[in-house]
This record gives sequence, structure tokens and C-alpha cells, in this order.
Amino acid sequence: MDRPTISLVTGAGRGLGVEVARQLAAHGYQVIVTGRDEARLAEVVAGLPGDGHRALRLDVTDAEQVQALPDRVGELDVLVNNAAAYVDWTETATNADLGAARAVLETNLVAPWALIQALLPVLRRSAHPRIVNVASGAGSHGDPDFGLTRRGGAAASYGISKAALLALTSTVAAELAETPVIVNAVCPGLTATYPGAEAMGAHPIGAGAESVVWAALVPDNGPRGGFFRHAVPVPW
Ligand SMILES: NC(=O)c1ccc[n+]([C@@H]2O[C@H](COP(=O)([O-])OP(=O)(O)OC[C@H]3O[C@@H](n4cnc5c(N)ncnc54)[C@H](OP(=O)(O)O)[C@@H]3O)[C@@H](O)[C@H]2O)c1
Repeated sequence: MDRPTISLVTGAGRGLGVEVARQLAAHGYQVIVTGRDEARLAEVVAGLPGDGHRALRLDVTDAEQVQALPDRVGELDVLVNNAAAYVDWTETATNADLGAARAVLETNLVAPWALIQALLPVLRRSAHPRIVNVASGAGSHGDPDFGLTRRGGAAASYGISKAALLALTSTVAAELAETPVIVNAVCPGLTATYPGAEAMGAHPIGAGAESVVWAALVPDNGPRGGFFRHAVPVPW
């Protein structure tokens, strides 16, 4: 008998990660809900539909925890790199505190990279492996609201980290082009994960999560190395 499809979501103790986990569970996937706050992770797991879900404490910047993951996970089909760090939105490239910027790059770029490296041997054992990197329009050149060329659009280190995550997505997807491992990046769109966001035009959290989950569900002949929002390619 086939085993259930197993997915791992980072930063799933709050925000979009919770809803991504819930939607994957609703699709019948078993979800490994990871994050830094074990009490919150237990609540998330308890609220998921279906069985077989579990919580794993994972600070994505903790190299030891990342290295230990393959043994702790065992089997895996879908990795969703969702966790992200931010600094104050007033940060610009010319005034940025580089210590804080380095920390953002560590969480938003180096950590997904390390997770891909660590979990690739496990994913390669899956029949339909998927890697989903949650990026942002803030990392694209064209985004009229938050993009790289839009002064004051997003915190500089955040946009730069997401641009680098998009570059990582293309590079890894190209390296894995002849394998079953499908790698894509997604933007959830402006999503109401914080108070007041809906008043700024953010869509509900379910819509943002759908944009992410779509990339976990792409078929074996689906797109590779792209950047998508609500299943539509986004130039970057
Ligand atoms: N919301 C939007 O409008 C929007 C738009 C475009 C892209 N995105 C992207 O969508 C993803 C989710 O965004 P969100 O709005 O849900 O953000 P959020 O509410 O700020 O949640 C961020 C999540 O990342 C986790 N995290 C941060 N650093 C971590 C670390 N070192 N180790 C493990 N987990 C860590 C946080 O966990 P703690 O609770 O432990 O801090 C939290 O669960 C991010 O990649 C973000 O860049 C969001």
C-alpha cells in the first residue's frame, strides 16, 4: 500500500505557515509542522484535519537542528520553505544595519538553502518530490508596490533576500532538471497575517496559502524553476 504524502512546512507556528499546513492536511497530506515555539506547534497540529501530523521544533538558522532533520523526518515528499525574517520596513540599502541585514539573509536565503541541501537525499527517495520556496514580489524588479526598484517598497534586506531566494530557486531547479524533484518559488500576494493588513488591501490568509500550496501540488510534468503568484508566472 502507498504511504501518505508527507510535507514539511517551516515557520508553521503562526501566519501563513499555519494555513499552508491546514490546506496540505485538507489535501490528505501528512504534515510535519515546524517552528520555534513548541506550544504553538502542538496547537497547530491538534487543529489539522486528518491524522499522522506531527510537530518538530526547528529554528531554520540552527545548523545542528537542520543537520539532524533527515533522521528526525525519515521520509518526505514536500518541503515548504515558508519561514521568514523581517526588519523595520523603513530600512533602506544605504542606511541598513548590516548585522540585522545579515540575519535576514541568514533566515530567508541561507536557511532554505541549507534545508534543501540537508533534505535533498530524503526527497530523492520520494516518487513525486517538491520544493516550494515562499518568496515575495519584494524580490522582483517589476512589482509596482513592493519591488526592488520601488523606493520605499519593502525593507531593503527583505527584498534582497527574496531576490536571492528566487535566484536560488532557478539555480537548484536547473541542477535538478533531470530528476523528479520539482522546485518552484511562489508569492502568496499581500496577505492579512497581521492586524490592519486587510485595510491595506491584503487578501485573507486562505487565499495567500492557496498560492503557496498550488506549487506543492504541481503534477510531474508541471513547471520547474518558476516564480508564481496564484498559479500565474510572475516576472522577476
Ligand atoms: N504576509 C504577506 O503579505 C506576504 C507577502 C509576500 C510574501 N510573504 C512570505 O510568506 C511567508 C510567510 O509570511 P507570514 O506573513 O506568515 O509571516 P509571519 O506572520 O511574520 O510569520 C513568519 C514565520 O516565520 C517564522 N520564523 C522566523 N524566523 C524563523 C526561524 N529562524 N526559524 C523558524 N521559523 C522562523 C516565524 O516563527 P516565530 O513565531 O518563531 O517568529 C513565523 O512562523 C514568508 O516567507 C513571507 O516572506 C508574505
